[in-house]
Amino acid sequence: MSAPESDQPGRLISHFRNRDSKQQLSGWTELWETDQSDLWDRGKPSSALIEFIESKPEVLSNIGCGKGYDVVALALHGFDAYGLEISKKGAVTARQYAASELAEPCDYNYHNLDTWQTGDVEDVTIVVGDFFQEPREVGVFDLIYDYTFLCALHPSLRQAWARRMHELLSPDGVLICLEFPLYKDLALPGPPWGLKGVYWNLLAVGGDGIIDRPCEEDADQEGPFRRLVYFKPPVSYENGKGTDLVSVWSKLPWQFPANTNEGEQG
Ligand SMILES: C[S@@+](CC[C@H](N)C(=O)[O-])C[C@H]1O[C@@H](n2cnc3c(N)ncnc32)[C@H](O)[C@@H]1O
Repeated sequence: MSAPESDQPGRLISHFRNRDSKQQLSGWTELWETDQSDLWDRGKPSSALIEFIESKPEVLSNIGCGKGYDVVALALHGFDAYGLEISKKGAVTARQYAASELAEPCDYNYHNLDTWQTGDVEDVTIVVGDFFQEPREVGVFDLIYDYTFLCALHPSLRQAWARRMHELLSPDGVLICLEFPLYKDLALPGPPWGLKGVYWNLLAVGGDGIIDRPCEEDADQEGPFRRLVYFKPPVSYENGKGTDLVSVWSKLPWQFPANTNEGEQG
């Protein structure tokens, strides 16, 4: 998912320009049906995620999983991995990718080939559904990975995103966010929407994620989540322009506001 440099809107921004929060889902399924996933697809899993799981094996679900690169990479590292995707066509594509990749994995799924290529491989399950509604039947997850999902959502859905993450994570689970795009002005239109300071506001403070500028990060903050780790990944996608950060969160007891707009999309 790339962001345009100038104020000339890119194809993705133009596609969503006149869609309110209720028209986001149809916007994404339309892009899948018209074969425009090239607007965000980078053709391989997240190096930052692979680096992290290879160095911290103790510590699944990938939301808005697209073609499923990261879901498959997690399964190849021994996680029982679920991908959730709103588009049926996207999910079919992800299932096809998973079948061929699990049978014959590309090297890009590993950083340390010698250690990991011979390890246990788990299953991949791709669920078709709306993140704000599903997958209730599969329960909670020990690890949830978000890359280019929050930045793809209309800002009015951000607090609902935080609330669903809180519901979907097991009590001892971790939410891993590859924070992108952090270089993009918060006032510019998306997707992708600029997110500098947004994760902190949503997860550490319990705000609605709609901010003008990042606030100071107070380590004693008590919100819906606690940030356990925050670091610049040694490798990440080029489109992050060297600003991508990885944050890892555990959840705390928290009551979200009653008006959090869960499931308002259509
Ligand atoms: C920008 S793409 C990122 C895909 C993937 N994470 C990647 O890195 O290639 C966002 C994806 O989220 C899906 N999506 C959007 N809204 C969703 C929702 N409410 N529930 C589930 N998937 C959704 C879109 O169809 C699209 O495939």
